[in-house]
Amino acid sequence: MARVLRPKDREVTAERLLDSSVRNSYQPDLDVDWDAPLVAGKIFLPEERVSLYGTELWERLTPEERIELAKHEIGSITSVGLWTEILLMQLLARYASDLDPRNPHTHYALTEIGDETRHAIMFGKGIARLGLPAYGPPRIVRKLAKLFGAVIDGPAMFASVLVVEETTDRLQRSMLDNDDVQPFIRMINRIHVVEEARHVRYAREELVRGLESLSRPMLELHRLVTAVVAYTIVDIMVNPGVYTAVGLDPRQAREVARDNPHHHETKRWMAEKIVEFLGEVGMIGGPSKRFWRKAHLL
Ligand SMILES: [Fe+2]
Ligand SMILES: [Fe+2]
Repeated sequence: MARVLRPKDREVTAERLLDSSVRNSYQPDLDVDWDAPLVAGKIFLPEERVSLYGTELWERLTPEERIELAKHEIGSITSVGLWTEILLMQLLARYASDLDPRNPHTHYALTEIGDETRHAIMFGKGIARLGLPAYGPPRIVRKLAKLFGAVIDGPAMFASVLVVEETTDRLQRSMLDNDDVQPFIRMINRIHVVEEARHVRYAREELVRGLESLSRPMLELHRLVTAVVAYTIVDIMVNPGVYTAVGLDPRQAREVARDNPHHHETKRWMAEKIVEFLGEVGMIGGPSKRFWRKAHLL
């Protein structure tokens, strides 16, 4: 299979990533101005990214309610992201426990756990700063993820991690230079984008290496697992509880969002880069491709 990404030697990549981590990492406790007041009139999430944008329900909201809903939606996306980072720390810790502790590749896995620890705290503080509930994923997803996290590894693990990291990254990157967005949210996004770029590199290369030795039936299994993770992740990003913040019925609003072509487009846009990559390396294909379509990611 022709592959666009030709991974370098594992240890060469890891040494570069470690070097970059030393030169360019953040301490969110100090690097984010947690006490700065929110800026009046600035937004939390561009309105075209809100799940109800363009619907009749959206038209009925006042400008203030739209900003409020956007704030709750970014809070929900952040809380789901934070939860996945904690899962990722567990996966990486298990992964690293079987590696040679003398190797840079192992050291980078451990460095990434450190990054994700700081990110999870940063996101948690951000949610608290905005006075938002800790939405997170539904209970059933939390439970299943515990079981699932105990067995997932190899290409499915790295591909699942990439789906989460790269979809969030697309959204955060798009806000970096947007002057209308609250400065403190932009700073959080900036820190995350810089450090995640290394995680993406690490996982993309390791995924390609892992695929080289995979048999056909195992490839289908890893594809299926990744497709189910992708389907679930984009489905749970907006917790229906956000709609009650602006007086909407959560069930009804969730149905409207699920049928909203603008929302489908946002999901597709967020996943565009990772879908392209996973397609190129052969991780999207076969029977499980229908999950990607059903999730509006293809
Ligand atoms: Fe992160
Ligand atoms: Fe990450």
